[in-house]
Amino acid sequence: MVNVAVLGCGVVGSGVVEVIKKNSFSISQRAGMEIKVKWILDIRDLPDSPYADLLTKNSEDIFNDDTVSIIVETIGGVRAAYEFTKKALQSGRHVVTSNKELVAKHGPELLKMASDNKVNYLFEASVGGGIPIIRPLNQCLAANEIHGITGILNGTTNYILTQMKKEGKDFADALKEAQKNGYAEADPTADIEGHDACRKIAILSSIAYNEYVNCENIYTEGISKLTVTDMLYAEKMNSTIKLIGISKRVGNKVYARVSPAMIRKDHPLANVEDVFNAIVVKGDAIGEAMFYGRGAGKLPTASAVVADIIDIVKHTGMYGNNIWERKSYDNLINSGENDIGFFVRVKVRNSEEAKKFISRSLGQVEFISLNKPGLQDELAFVTAKEKEGPMLEKIKVLGTIASIKEVVSIIRIEEE
Ligand code: HSE
Repeated sequence: MVNVAVLGCGVVGSGVVEVIKKNSFSISQRAGMEIKVKWILDIRDLPDSPYADLLTKNSEDIFNDDTVSIIVETIGGVRAAYEFTKKALQSGRHVVTSNKELVAKHGPELLKMASDNKVNYLFEASVGGGIPIIRPLNQCLAANEIHGITGILNGTTNYILTQMKKEGKDFADALKEAQKNGYAEADPTADIEGHDACRKIAILSSIAYNEYVNCENIYTEGISKLTVTDMLYAEKMNSTIKLIGISKRVGNKVYARVSPAMIRKDHPLANVEDVFNAIVVKGDAIGEAMFYGRGAGKLPTASAVVADIIDIVKHTGMYGNNIWERKSYDNLINSGENDIGFFVRVKVRNSEEAKKFISRSLGQVEFISLNKPGLQDELAFVTAKEKEGPMLEKIKVLGTIASIKEVVSIIRIEEE
């Protein structure tokens, strides 16, 4: 019998306990041993919890219990979660987590600590919810030189964008539903402003390129400025708008970004809707492989956490954490160096003058018209693919000339 303690009885933590109880027979068959949740730590009073007999508010109950060999950290955030994770690893216990913020920010140190203490630090649930992606990258694709990853990595924002596009729902209502379904972070700003997706692309990139990619250095932009009108233009362009996390190897550096992007409808990620996530991995031997599934939610995320627990139990006595090397130099290339095209909308005072200025200053552009009432005072266009930095500077200047009132949308066009 293996005893597990779950730290944090929120959406994911309670899902972990539920899955272990519900599938106990097949789980113990696969693990080769019975797996039992002995403790659940939560600072709240949870008198109605079906697991009230397992609850404690005192972490010492767990750390003083020598029969507990695996700690599941589903607290989230970096404060208490970080302290408990270090304490667990240093006491020779394996740690399994869904906490992408902690892995993205302290992965190198925690992986090394796990190795030094001959235990595992596993985090399959930290990216893509229930989608197997960390283990495939670490193991199944280990023979490849990975040269790129493109993904829809946040269930909440993909749900919101889908509801806006298909049901015409407004942003706030769609967000409320995502929260009700248990998809969103405690503070949904992390979802909406792209920070959650940024942590996930940082984790995937660190594994793929065998070096630590720091989420704090990744250009990140969320979906809060997108409008239904942007989506109508995308439709006209045979495209759709998604929040994309992307990274690629560029020489001895890495390019990474999170931002909304227009992708053509024949792009592999275009039909990934609602809470689903998908990740396309490009490797020199495999070509492209795509991983698809529910990217958030109680049971899908719990599925990934419990799979890590089973892996540890099945391979008792073994540990194999990859170490993420911190480079001594800044290993991310400046996002301004990347070649990309933009979709731009501007409100105009004088359409003909504005058009002339745009064509003169931005070079080759393609104007797009929506023929919709209320848009007579605007111009929309697509730029050529050029270095992002200088092109953005030129687009910014548009907002300062007499014939243009303001720049209302700037959306990247992603082809990778
Ligand atoms: N808030 C996250 C999302 C949860 O919506 O994708 C899963 O990591």
